[in-house]
Amino acid sequence: MEVKGSTNVVGLIGHPVEHSFSPPMHNAAFKKLDMDYVYTAFDVNPKDLENAIKGAEALNIKGFNVTIPHKIEVMKYLNEIDEVAKLIGAVNTIDFKNLKGYNTDGIGAIKAIEEVTSVKNKNVVVAGAGGASRAISFYLAKYGVDTLTILNRNVEKAQKLSEDVLKSELIDNVLSGQINDMSLDDADILINTTPVGMHPNVDVDPIASKDQMHEDLVVFDAVYNPNETVLLKEAIKADAKPVYGIKMLLYQGAESFEIWTGKKAPIDVMEDALTNYLGL
Ligand code: ATR
Repeated sequence: MEVKGSTNVVGLIGHPVEHSFSPPMHNAAFKKLDMDYVYTAFDVNPKDLENAIKGAEALNIKGFNVTIPHKIEVMKYLNEIDEVAKLIGAVNTIDFKNLKGYNTDGIGAIKAIEEVTSVKNKNVVVAGAGGASRAISFYLAKYGVDTLTILNRNVEKAQKLSEDVLKSELIDNVLSGQINDMSLDDADILINTTPVGMHPNVDVDPIASKDQMHEDLVVFDAVYNPNETVLLKEAIKADAKPVYGIKMLLYQGAESFEIWTGKKAPIDVMEDALTNYLGL
């Protein structure tokens, strides 16, 4: 890739950013499509966030991904927020054409699962009630799941999130409960948004064991390090269908790419770049 006077800049803002997988993934896509774009990462101190957004506008930067700790705070400096991102209360993508914020994390999870099965009219159990669960839960509601059950260690947080999702009126059936009381007998899809199984604690008890699973279950783990988590190992033993966390990274990136460029993202090339970078 040759950076020229005409090159369009997109990038990531966060704090820290140096270990991000996004630059190799997006730059591989730009190269493949022979687009005059470059993706880079900017470490932005929280106190400089407003200046960073104003400066990016002035510099004619085309788009940003936004990561921790700016996903909530940055909304103050945008002109417009996508409807679901507003419900979630966090953005991970900015399009500078209209200074509009989006949240592609949740869509990323849906698209990952939809490689295997449609989420529409399904009975879905989500473990965890933090930021990732929130992003995914609102998108599950938007994509037409029948019943959403949010389970968490701290049940009050699960109740609060389920009430918020119900209030959106995107879905009629939202339940909540304790993660240790999980029953998957009637579930079509299980989604893990907790860090259980994440490196370096890879050999912990999974949030669900093979004995709780069944053959028709799809199991998605948002944890991507390691690639095959203890939960996905259980899913494989149960003959359930595993969906790997890396797919969520891939599809959130693909969605952001399409928002900025209006072009279809080259999924295969982005996936290769991602797996190479993560050493998978
Ligand atoms: P993220 O943005 O990745 O969702 P988060 O907002 O910190 O991160 O949320 C982490 C979620 O994982 C929470 O639902 C947390 O449960 P609590 O609300 O009870 O703390 C859950 N979690 C973290 N460690 C866990 C563990 N060891 N077992 C079960 N749940 C866990």
